[in-house]
Amino acid sequence: MHKAKTVLDFHRMKAEGEKITVLTSYDFPMTGVIDAAGIDMILVGDSVGVVVAGFDNTLPVTMEDMIYHTRAVMRARPKAFVVADMPFLSYQTDLKSARLNAGLLVKEGGAAAVKIEGGVNVAETIAAITAMDIPVMGHIGLTPQSLHRMGGYKVQGKGDAQAEKLVEDARAVEAAGAFAIVLEGIPMGLAQRITAELTIPTIGIGAGPHCDGQVLVIHDILGLCSKYSPKFVKRYAELAPIIGEAVANYIADVKGGTFPEERHCFK
Ligand code: KIV
Repeated sequence: MHKAKTVLDFHRMKAEGEKITVLTSYDFPMTGVIDAAGIDMILVGDSVGVVVAGFDNTLPVTMEDMIYHTRAVMRARPKAFVVADMPFLSYQTDLKSARLNAGLLVKEGGAAAVKIEGGVNVAETIAAITAMDIPVMGHIGLTPQSLHRMGGYKVQGKGDAQAEKLVEDARAVEAAGAFAIVLEGIPMGLAQRITAELTIPTIGIGAGPHCDGQVLVIHDILGLCSKYSPKFVKRYAELAPIIGEAVANYIADVKGGTFPEERHCFK
């Protein structure tokens, strides 16, 4: 049995050099499996819109979707620390609605923390939410909700000026009170520099090995998402063909009259 994680664990882990493991999860059964395996943190990501709902990007995801999926995750009573993503338009328009929506993810969803995309531009929002005692995780670099500004899912922080801007963003997120920050799609040297400079843990995705922890999308590592597989993903299983074979066997059994058998029937 592993102990339930809190924000204090992540600061200790950074100080002691213990890597922080993070995966996304969006439902009850998957959460039970990955929690029992010992994952440190679960992110109910707005990536749910892409890998579960089939949208082309995360922009259509709503607060209703995020509360629904966060509740499903929390019903598994995970020992992992659960962070819920704030979806597009739930925190960008004004501080009052940002505070209310963060509160709803905690009060109705049951999450322990929320995640917000952006740097200097959302520092005031991070400060307003942390002032309500809701821990906030920042997210800079390749921020999927900024897809149209970036002109696609492109690595960020490549030139000197862009790199300096990201360092400034990271500092602003930490100064605003975030307990951790996701660094997505940035050069590994830049991620190493930000990790060394910040006192809060950095969680990398496509940001190299020097971050304090790593996050990946569960569907990507299990081979359940065939549409798109980014360079930074490592596949630990290929479940799509296994599921396909099981379903083909079921179809053959039903069509051939070999299922159900007597042991599956009531008398
Ligand atoms: O939505 C998500 O899953 C994320 C992670 C990939 C960092 O933001």
